[in-house]
Amino acid sequence: MHRPSKRLDSLGASVFSEMDNLRRELEKAGNQLINLSIGSPDRAPALEIRKILSGAALEESQYGYTLTRGTAKFRSVCAEWYLNRFGVTLDPETEVLPLMGSQDGLAHIFLAYIDPGDLALIPDPGYPIYTAGLMLAGGEKVAMPLLKENGFLPDLRQIDPNLARKAKLMFLNYPNNPTAAVASLSFFEDVVEFAKKYELLICHDAAYSELAFEGYKPVSFLEARGAKEVGIEFHSVSKTYNLAGARLGFVVGNADVIRNLSQLKANIDYGVFRPVLTAGAYALSSAQDSIAENKLAYERRRDLLIKGCADAGWNMPIPQGSMFIWAPIPTGQDSVTFAIELARDAGVIVVPGLGFGDHGEGYVRIAMVQEESVLQEAVRRIQGFLGRKI
Ligand SMILES: Cc1ncc(COP(=O)(O)O)c(C=O)c1O
Repeated sequence: MHRPSKRLDSLGASVFSEMDNLRRELEKAGNQLINLSIGSPDRAPALEIRKILSGAALEESQYGYTLTRGTAKFRSVCAEWYLNRFGVTLDPETEVLPLMGSQDGLAHIFLAYIDPGDLALIPDPGYPIYTAGLMLAGGEKVAMPLLKENGFLPDLRQIDPNLARKAKLMFLNYPNNPTAAVASLSFFEDVVEFAKKYELLICHDAAYSELAFEGYKPVSFLEARGAKEVGIEFHSVSKTYNLAGARLGFVVGNADVIRNLSQLKANIDYGVFRPVLTAGAYALSSAQDSIAENKLAYERRRDLLIKGCADAGWNMPIPQGSMFIWAPIPTGQDSVTFAIELARDAGVIVVPGLGFGDHGEGYVRIAMVQEESVLQEAVRRIQGFLGRKI
């Protein structure tokens, strides 16, 4: 038998694999499940974006490697988009790097900055790649609890100064997965101060910056004064334009960090497929209407779910952004037990909060990734389930 690396053992995905096994078992038994677990957009990209993608894919010239830095056009469109959206100026040559989905950058930044034994400050609950990327690099996690009473922002004053001094980087993510919390500019300004004090690299994951409701516009970390000196920000076109499977994102900010990540990636991949870069550039420069439509669709889903569950006695905070609802468990059960019962008894799959870290206990994450008619059915099932339980 070939023995896999110890590194693989460090990737504890037990809650997710337990739920996945259950889903498969229930499907095999013929259950019609409603899957509200994975944050994969169910909506299609706008038709113009698909046309640009398919048109480019027909051209013979589009099939070479683009290499890590991608096309100058894509980088300059990212910089223009940033200026228009956030008022932040970026040098497209040194401060912008395309990614094969933001996940590519989120995973690899740790290999560029973390040596075995190095510490990193990671939100708990948090999107799992931050912990997984850190573990793959051999680093050690210092968990930053995201608590309801702090609006699911880390309390910087509660971070042990000795650990902050030893840590090399801090991850943040707003609008947040899984809590759906949002962050203000003044919070990011505090983070810049903190980063300067403790010489931390700040990595902000802004995958949901364009998915916010009722006119709320999430801010960029780079809008905070001095942010570019201490950090970088990751973006994704996956949720913004429903291009998740096309695998395109980008990272912007501190030129040294961008260069080092680029150097690492140059040893790992040969860049994003050129038609995808072309479609992404088109989306970022010309398809802003589709963002508004997308937000409205999620806002309607959100309202339907929140109201339907409230009618059954399950009250949830109304998210201002992201594609998730972070729902406190209404039955007093732990998150895994509740999610398993909801799957078995109602055929609705959600993610137990524990899967995102110890501080995720007490919650489940509901992804709003089905159309309204399906969500209506999910609500009916949840109402029946809770009617039997509470
Ligand atoms: C917070 C967050 N960051 C990043 C990603 C990865 O997105 P991408 O498709 O750009 O790799 C996701 C995907 O669900 C996410 O939830």
